[in-house]
Amino acid sequence: MKLLASLSICMLLFSCTKDKVAGTIVDPNCTDSISFSTDVWPIIEQNCTGCHGVGNTTGYTLTNHTNISSNAAAIVGSMKGSGFQFMPQGGVALPDTVIQKVQCWIVQGKLNN
Ligand code: HEC
Repeated sequence: MKLLASLSICMLLFSCTKDKVAGTIVDPNCTDSISFSTDVWPIIEQNCTGCHGVGNTTGYTLTNHTNISSNAAAIVGSMKGSGFQFMPQGGVALPDTVIQKVQCWIVQGKLNN
């Protein structure tokens, strides 16, 4: 009820589509197959390995399929800032479309493809 009320107020005042600045969810059912090497790894490499590379002191090394897949839940949780500290630390949230790729990779079995 509270949600409905705020939703209608929101719609009365301004277009709610503006709320969501990050990308839209393009593939909610994960029908596109995600590749570790061409989708997931470049995301981690660009946004995370600067701090989570070999020999870092964060407690999380994210440099290959083995350590990325064993920390997959924490990675997505931190990208969403849900259940884990928000990552990239001190940075801007990754677009939903990017986080969704990592999520779909998990749904599809964390393949090393
Ligand atoms: C600027 C440096 C930096 C960047 C960039 C960064 N991290 Fe971190 N990350 C840290 C530090 C430092 C910690 C440890 C924080 C602590 O223990 O207080 C950490 C902790 C974490 C944790 C554990 C969080 C928890 O609540 O236990 C995860 C998971 C993580 N990072 C994933 C990522 C991912 C995924 C990315 C890329 C999207 C990323 N990090 C980018 C510095 C960084």
